[in-house]
Parts: sequence; structure tokens; C-alpha cells
Amino acid sequence: DPSWIHLVALALGYLLGSIPFGLLLTRAAGLGDIRKIGSGNIGATNVLRTGNKLLALATLLLDGAKGAAAVLIAQYWGGDAAGPDLMLAAGAGAILGHLYPVWLGFKGGKGVATSLGILLALDWRVGALACVTWLAAALIFRYSSLSALLALLFAPIYAWLLAGPRLAVFAIFVAALVWWRHRENIRRLLKGEEPKIGKKET
Ligand code: G3P
Repeated sequence: DPSWIHLVALALGYLLGSIPFGLLLTRAAGLGDIRKIGSGNIGATNVLRTGNKLLALATLLLDGAKGAAAVLIAQYWGGDAAGPDLMLAAGAGAILGHLYPVWLGFKGGKGVATSLGILLALDWRVGALACVTWLAAALIFRYSSLSALLALLFAPIYAWLLAGPRLAVFAIFVAALVWWRHRENIRRLLKGEEPKIGKKET
């Protein structure tokens, strides 16, 4: 039954996505609770505010890898017969797990690294372009949140042009979630109060 297997992919994606690497790594490094530092977010940008660049990089890579892993595992186990929707279901689960992890009272991260990992696994060209957009915006503006908002804004367009409407609709879904989770950042950006990348906790 196809709907049953899609639910399994969604659930497995959710489980993978809900692993809060930023929280686990900073806790293991004896840096305390990352949710009490800086923006309070569990993502790589906030881990960087502890001053530990290596830990921030590890958070970025692991949060990205869990999203990619969810998609690739679905592809591997589902095979060709399951079709592309199985990978999208796993990807949707992974982003929902990262944003709303049951283990943290449904208060998770903002989904930037994870959505980039998911997009890379679904279509590496779309994911790579989204990463390049994030990087270019970060180099120009120096705001992590603004870079993420721009990368996710463009992702559905890249998906539409390179992969087609199915991935574009999925990218819109992911972008809407990520934008929604950045609403405090958007408020701060508009007020000119958003800290630039790498500015340590004050
Ligand atoms: O990765 C999330 C980033 O876009 C914003 O993080 O900690 O500045 O709210 P933060």
C-alpha cells in the first residue's frame, strides 16, 4: 500500500530530523544549554555565538546530513517502484522533525541546514544553487537569517527551472516553514537589530 509506506518514510524522516545536533554537541562540549545563549536557537548560527567555530561547523554539517540521510534512505529502501514521492515524504518528515521535535516540546530549530541537506539529496543542482545563494548573501549582507530567507525564497524557483513543479511545490512548503520559523529574525532585521554572523553572545 503506497500511502502506508509514505507514512513510514514521513515518520522515519521525522525521527532523523528531530535529532538536535546543536543542543547535543554544545551540551557534550560543556557549553551549557544552547537555548539560553544568543537567539536561543539550536542551529549552527547560534552555536557559533559560543565562539566555538568547529562545533558550529559540525552542527551545520550534521543538521544538513540528517536531512539528506532521510531522503537517501527513503530512496534506497523504496527503490524505483516507490517513486519520487517517497523521498519527498521523508524530506518533509525531516524538516518537520527539526523544526518541531517531540523531544524538545516541539521547539526545534529554524531549518536552514536541514532544508539545504534535503534539497541537495533530492536534486543536488537545486541544493547547490540554494547553498550558493546563502553564501553570496552572507558575504554581501553578513546576516545568517537574511541569507537563509533569500536562499529559501529562491529555492522553489531553482526547483521549478531545473526539476519541475513537483520539487517546486515541495520547496515552497519547506520555504514557508523556514520563513515562519524566522519571524523573530524578520522583525529584528526590519528594526535593524539583527546581529551579524559570528558576533558573540553579549
Ligand atoms: O540558521 C538559523 C539562522 O538563519 C538564524 O539563526 O540564531 O540568528 O536566529 P539565529
